[in-house]
Amino acid sequence: MERSVSELENASHSTSRGIRVENLAKYYGDHCVFKDINFEIGPREIVSVVGPSGCGKTTLLRCLNGLIQPDEGQVIADGLQVSSPRPGIAIVFQDFGLFPWKTALDNVAYGLVVQGMKKDKARKIASNYVNMVALEGFEDRYPHQLSGGMQQRAGLARALAVEPSVLLMDEPFGALDAQTRELMQFELLQIWDKNPMSMLFVTHGIDEAVLMGDRVIVLGGKPSGIYREVDVPLPRPRDASTVASPEFQELRSQVWDHVMTVRRNTSSDEN
Ligand SMILES: Nc1ncnc2c1ncn2[C@@H]1O[C@H](COP(=O)(O)OP(=O)(O)O)[C@@H](O)[C@H]1O
Ligand SMILES: [Mg+2]
Repeated sequence: MERSVSELENASHSTSRGIRVENLAKYYGDHCVFKDINFEIGPREIVSVVGPSGCGKTTLLRCLNGLIQPDEGQVIADGLQVSSPRPGIAIVFQDFGLFPWKTALDNVAYGLVVQGMKKDKARKIASNYVNMVALEGFEDRYPHQLSGGMQQRAGLARALAVEPSVLLMDEPFGALDAQTRELMQFELLQIWDKNPMSMLFVTHGIDEAVLMGDRVIVLGGKPSGIYREVDVPLPRPRDASTVASPEFQELRSQVWDHVMTVRRNTSSDEN
């Protein structure tokens, strides 16, 4: 079952076995953020997670990435327990997480350079991903010279450039205006259709959760647990016509009802 580090670093879409979360619990002092969390994301599957503010979505995602350790249970990605951040698992943050002193191109190349790739080669590969997220022409700009949408494109390109088998997204479009958000959702779906991987998509947008996910997990309670899982059997590729379909509307209203119910019974630090 054990795999070497080099094998692990070569893990990409083709070898991916997805990610599995087993009996996960996390405490901060006496406060149990969540417990008994169990789910699996297949190698070509998108799972959305919604739930009230403060219910532990970001904490869960950090456990999946290995940035923090759970107090109970384990996370298995590509057959190996996650104990620290690693190349096969990429993360995209809501606040973009770009280095202000690096150009867009160098931000995108960053993950590759960290893995030990020579700068020239990393930049060459990064420029492909810059093109993929439609940022060509802006390679030399610094983050403060880019709009929010462009910064998040760079954040996405940086995550994709390492060819992760698991992509974790923490409300990636939450800071964007409504039109840019919609545009980015459809662009991300197109990118994923061409190169699918396991994706966990945390969002507070119910429409966004249904549009992206093969399933939607509704998190909440005291402490948080998986309150409901809603299957989203909408065909892919998905686009604007998906959102207009009656099936979509029915699913979003189901998820909405679950979120409203769970909100009433969740410890929230909403302010
Ligand atoms: N480093 C930390 N130390 C103590 N409490 C934390 C820490 N990080 C998060 N929390 C608490 O854990 C709970 C879940 O937070 P978070 O995962 O950020 O929720 P969400 O992303 O769903 O809004 C909140 O009550 C938050 O205050
Ligand atoms: Mg959060």
